[in-house]
Amino acid sequence: MKDEKHVGFQLEDWQIEERKYFVSLISESFPNLRRIIILDLCCGLGRDLKLFESWGLSGVGTDISKEVLEIACHQCYSLVLKSDMREIPFLDNYFTGVWACNCIHHIPESEVGMVFGEVFRVLKNDGVFFVSTNHLFPELEGSFIAHGFSILKSEKRRWKNPQSGIKRHSGIFFARKEESSL
Ligand SMILES: C[S@@+](CC[C@H](N)C(=O)[O-])C[C@H]1O[C@@H](n2cnc3c(N)ncnc32)[C@H](O)[C@@H]1O
Repeated sequence: MKDEKHVGFQLEDWQIEERKYFVSLISESFPNLRRIIILDLCCGLGRDLKLFESWGLSGVGTDISKEVLEIACHQCYSLVLKSDMREIPFLDNYFTGVWACNCIHHIPESEVGMVFGEVFRVLKNDGVFFVSTNHLFPELEGSFIAHGFSILKSEKRRWKNPQSGIKRHSGIFFARKEESSL
């Protein structure tokens, strides 16, 4: 894997490590699969898609905002599509990983289950689901279990946005779609 922190991604070392860990979990789940394909749910400007590409992985980005997608499609080669995270326009069992960085708090808490249901549908069995969120929904952990995921790792983190300098709290979850569930 090429380390891309020097080419303007504005990611700190721990953020790059987090992304590497996500990819390592996918590789563990699919040791014999030649093509890892990641959905960057709410991809924004395509920063993470570009990083995944630089590691030789296939990615697809979706976002509700046409404006950010216009920038994303100039930043990276991956396909980007306008869609709502509650309705993912892909077939069942398509992706090996879904990366949802800093986005699920943009919808009402009562609708987070719709996103989890959609992610479960589009992930292959044993596929890996990453969520980071600024709101520490107390019942988020339960939502993973209720929607057929097992949590591999979770933590609460305090960090400072390197661009704005604003201090944040994040909840971070790495989960796996359970084959036998639902
Ligand atoms: C804080 S940004 C995070 C972007 C990117 N994941 C990152 O980490 O840089 C949140 C993104 O969620 C998108 N978004 C908000 N509501 C959405 C929805 N209902 N469906 C899909 N994308 C949505 C916004 O357009 C924005 O690009």
